[in-house]
Order: sequence, then C-alpha cells, then structure tokens
Amino acid sequence: MPKMIFIERDGTRKEVEAPVGLSVLEIAHRNNIDIEGACEGSLACSTCHVIVADDWFETLEEASEDEEDMLDLAFGLTATSRLGCQIIITEEKDGLTVALPQETRNMLLD
Ligand code: FES
Repeated sequence: MPKMIFIERDGTRKEVEAPVGLSVLEIAHRNNIDIEGACEGSLACSTCHVIVADDWFETLEEASEDEEDMLDLAFGLTATSRLGCQIIITEEKDGLTVALPQETRNMLLD
C-alpha cells in the first residue's frame, strides 16, 4: 500500500498508509492529522490547504480553476499549495509528502 508523509506544524514527520483512491484530506482524517476540511471535499472552503513538497508538486495533476479560486482564499498560500481534498492517491504517489500550513491568523497583526 502506498504511504504518505505529513509534516505537522511543529515539524514532526508522520508516515501513514495512503490507500489508493482516497484524498489527502481523507487520509489526514483517518490518521488524526490536523487538517480541517470543513466542506468535506466539495471545493467550498480552503481549510484543507496543504503545502506539497516541491518534487511532488510537479507530478500532480494541475489544479482546476475552482481549486485555484479557493486556494486564493487560503492563509499562508505558497507556490506549491494545493487543497488536500483534491489530491487523490494513486500507486505513483507512494511517498507523497505534504506539510500543514502555519495558518494561525492574528487579526491584530494583519
Ligand atoms: Fe473544503 Fe477541500 S475540504 S475545499
């Protein structure tokens, strides 16, 4: 079975099983990784934002326009940001590595 690696906000690497056909968001939820995913994958939020490792980013299918629109609303957007609910695991994605964004938003500092 493919594996995935999540890099948590404190820098901890967590390697987990990544069944083919599940989204990164679903895998996060199964493994108690702290990604919210408020809309359960229907492209109506940006709380499933993850930062994909550079090498992996290039191998992913391009984001749809709807995904790009939602990503624009994500805090801490980076050049390799994606929505976790839109990345579906395949055999080729064995070893996929994503980091959780630092998304604490302090209104006073904005
Ligand atoms: Fe809402 Fe991914 S869970 S867009």
